[in-house]
Amino acid sequence: MMERLYWIETWGCQMNEHDSEKMAGILEGLGYQRSPNVEAADLALLNTCAIREKAEEKVYQALGRLGEAKRQRPEMIVVVAGCVSQLAGQQVRERAPMVDLVIGPRAVSRLPEHLARLEDERGIVDTTLYQDSLMRRSEPVRKMKERGKAWVTVMEGCNKTCSYCVVPATRGREESRQLDDILGEVMALAAEGYVEIEFLGQNVNAYRCPQSGAGLADLLRAAGRVEGIRRLRFTTSHPLHLRQPIIDAMAEVPEVCPALHLPVQSGSTAVLKAMRRGYSREKYLERVEQLRRAVPDIALGTDVIVGFPGESEEDFQQTLSLVREVGFDQMFSFVYSSRPGTVAGMMADSVPHERKVEQLIELQALQREIQFERHQRLVGREVEVLVEGRSRRSEAEWAGRTACNRVVNFPGEEVEAGQMLTVRVTEARPNSLRGELVRADEAAFLT
Ligand code: 5AD
Ligand code: SF4
Repeated sequence: MMERLYWIETWGCQMNEHDSEKMAGILEGLGYQRSPNVEAADLALLNTCAIREKAEEKVYQALGRLGEAKRQRPEMIVVVAGCVSQLAGQQVRERAPMVDLVIGPRAVSRLPEHLARLEDERGIVDTTLYQDSLMRRSEPVRKMKERGKAWVTVMEGCNKTCSYCVVPATRGREESRQLDDILGEVMALAAEGYVEIEFLGQNVNAYRCPQSGAGLADLLRAAGRVEGIRRLRFTTSHPLHLRQPIIDAMAEVPEVCPALHLPVQSGSTAVLKAMRRGYSREKYLERVEQLRRAVPDIALGTDVIVGFPGESEEDFQQTLSLVREVGFDQMFSFVYSSRPGTVAGMMADSVPHERKVEQLIELQALQREIQFERHQRLVGREVEVLVEGRSRRSEAEWAGRTACNRVVNFPGEEVEAGQMLTVRVTEARPNSLRGELVRADEAAFLT
């Protein structure tokens, strides 16, 4: 058989990155191999994100670049997958007629059928939100991420109605996998040597086994008992759905990491209401308190949007004060972007873009300060690190993550990705820590 090469470029969240792993697994099952560059690829796949307008624009820029490669080699198959496909499938074909296949995130498992159809047909668009998209998840997954850590999808879709968000439109209604299937996958990953598992779902707290009715808390407890699993995480959590049983499981299951991403979006109750988030500033703060009572050292991450339609300067001040009050360990912040088909998309985008950018800069400066201060408290402490690979800053150093999801860089010899090590923190930086190796944990080498 002739060797065929594929190339995948991915934008967006972990869900999307994991979908890319699944599609890579499918392609390798069909005999494709990863291409070192896009020019040599027989199949180029763009896995896209539509969360903000900028993310969507990047796809068209990438398609523009791909156009040249396709002109040189017309037999190259161009696939557009992910959330832009779902939201604007036909438009993608209209703006970039050279695209051979447009496939939505809930149609990933149909990739082999569509590739076969491409033999005598061009321009296939499949944005069906297949109900069985999760049930059929038996495809091999080609891990692209660091050794040692793996993602496992537990649910897909989102039934929330946040007024700014396209995700319910791109990923469809919530659907959960069977608990036994998930545990089977966790056991298989543990047997391969993976020590950290992150459960994925757009609204992961809403996980409910369709057979037994078991929730996320039950899943965490069961997964914690799987031999070889050292760390469990889950993302993304909605403050409203993060109920006591999940918090109890976080406190009681030692494998569940003391870290949580809990997007707040705004510190102003009025804006939260307009966003249809279903909680007030006070309610969010109560949740944080509840979490900190149960897991005292918990590291909290969040997402914030600035410049929501109708947001006032006072609302923005409320966001700053909430960020100060909680003292997040990590924050992703965004300028509001009006999205088609959303409720907020129909409101006047009232905050001038320049003001939104200024607010973003101010918010990020505050967060940097808070993070730096929190990191300084860790200097001198010993932390357990899962090695991800070489440090981005220096080839001579390694990079790993603590249970709290902080990046630690450290020098060392005979270190391997996937290893669990104990490192002493020697220096704090705003976005990472530096440390020195104390000892390797011999129990956690990958096979
Ligand atoms: N504009 C800006 N940011 C958005 N997000 C979601 N929708 C929008 C939008 N329309 C942010 C939210 C979410 C994160 C993944 O992206 O903060 O939590
Ligand atoms: Fe982007 Fe949201 Fe889709 Fe993830 S689910 S790829 S963040 S639009």
